[in-house]
Amino acid sequence: MTDSNVQALSLAELTTHHSEKWSGFDSDVLPLPVAEMDFPIADPIRKVLLDMVTSSDLGYLGLVPELGAGFAKFAHERWNWIVDTSQVRVAADVGVGVVEVLRVFTQPGDSVLINSPIYQNFYNWINETRLTKIDIPFTRTGSEAEGSNPWVLDFDEVEKIYASGLKVHLLCSPHNPLGRIYSKNELIRIADMAKKYGVLVISDEIHSPLTFTPHEFTPFLTVSDAAREVGVAVTSATKAWNLAGLKCAIIVSQNDAIHKKLEEMPKAVHFRASILGAYASAAAFADGGPWLDAVIKNLDDNRFLLRDLLKDQLPTVRYNIPHNGYLAWLDMSSLNLGESPAETLLQKGRVALNPGSLYGEQSTQYVRLNFATSPEIITEAMKRIVSTLK
Ligand SMILES: Cc1ncc(COP(=O)(O)O)c(C=O)c1O
Repeated sequence: MTDSNVQALSLAELTTHHSEKWSGFDSDVLPLPVAEMDFPIADPIRKVLLDMVTSSDLGYLGLVPELGAGFAKFAHERWNWIVDTSQVRVAADVGVGVVEVLRVFTQPGDSVLINSPIYQNFYNWINETRLTKIDIPFTRTGSEAEGSNPWVLDFDEVEKIYASGLKVHLLCSPHNPLGRIYSKNELIRIADMAKKYGVLVISDEIHSPLTFTPHEFTPFLTVSDAAREVGVAVTSATKAWNLAGLKCAIIVSQNDAIHKKLEEMPKAVHFRASILGAYASAAAFADGGPWLDAVIKNLDDNRFLLRDLLKDQLPTVRYNIPHNGYLAWLDMSSLNLGESPAETLLQKGRVALNPGSLYGEQSTQYVRLNFATSPEIITEAMKRIVSTLK
């Protein structure tokens, strides 16, 4: 296998893994929750990790200009974004990055807007910082035609909340679990509103490298001067190159005033990241392009494989092919699997998916399925879901 021809590991290999996904369930359960991938890591990352371990280079993290430079190279190549690397900071992970940015810009009790269903840790980050959550959920009111994404955000409602004294809009861009990409016009509108009403936009862009053609991801900080005046992006290589356990993310601003304010973050935010994570992430951004493209090809095939399997075996399950990432958001309500379809599938079908209720209280009949694995495992998962209905 080479970086331009990546295939998922076999089930036998995967069951030896120590990660939460592969060690968190009984051995007869097929696990497809937790957003990590089942592919072997990219060669440039393997090399840097092996070199550092072999030479016992495992001390505290110092300055790591390679990381900002790698990100800037990637951002320029993929999104035509010229990043000022002096405004790329390091954090231990995206969660820590978001929480530390929130600590600088808010006081406990301030209000934060989210748009559910949303990555479950958004709720935890808001609780951790003692902020007040305001939710304007996405509604499933757009086109269900194949290729479109039906999830719609009511921007007039968003503006009303912005105008009511909101402090922060926590954006998941691209969106987990909806696989939805914000259009450039949507982001421009968010930036304009944020500037008008004094709202900070924190854009979690961790899934952005995993975007399927012809869809295009637009980094928030590229859309306008207003976006740079109101925005902070938090992202990492850990989702797209599958390095979550290595603990490294970046906090990016592109505006002097925001940059200055972020100086208030504790210095420790930087060195709490891991040295292996920082250098692996730098290698991913700088040299991981061929591997990433090969993985996107696998994921692209898998999102359609899932469509075909569902059409064939579970045609009443609603699934919109995601525009980004490897998470399928499945509406199981037609299957009558009880209060928690994920729990029923786990108990009866021995297949683990994430319960929709984690992402929003309105989503109890949904499950999130991770298709960043082999076609064989996806096919087996489908078999187990179908077997639950018998
Ligand atoms: C939108 C989003 N943000 C952040 C994370 C987690 O990032 P980290 O482990 O760097 O905190 C995930 C993981 O699935 C995610 O989907």
